[in-house]
Amino acid sequence: MSVAGSGAFVRLAETARPAVAITVDGAPVASMRGDTLLTAMRLAGLIVRRSEFGDGARGGFCLMGVCQDCLVQVAGQGRVRACQTEVAPGMQVTTLG
Ligand code: FES
Repeated sequence: MSVAGSGAFVRLAETARPAVAITVDGAPVASMRGDTLLTAMRLAGLIVRRSEFGDGARGGFCLMGVCQDCLVQVAGQGRVRACQTEVAPGMQVTTLG
């Protein structure tokens, strides 16, 4: 499992931070301490959700906590903005559709 990125994001720096294991929809996703959930998901090639307007995959929009395009469910925390939530060991993330 690579933390370098195979998706929309590519990690270019800070590649030596400690690994943090999370799951997204039950599948393991590699991340590093200090990553946001959105960073981890986009590095892994995952989308956040499907558009309710039928125009495809969504992967975050503003990336700064304003638009709520990146809402996901985290076990024990409820709905959070993936772009504003730092990964934590064992975090279980569920996408919302
Ligand atoms: S991408 Fe806009 S709030 Fe997260």
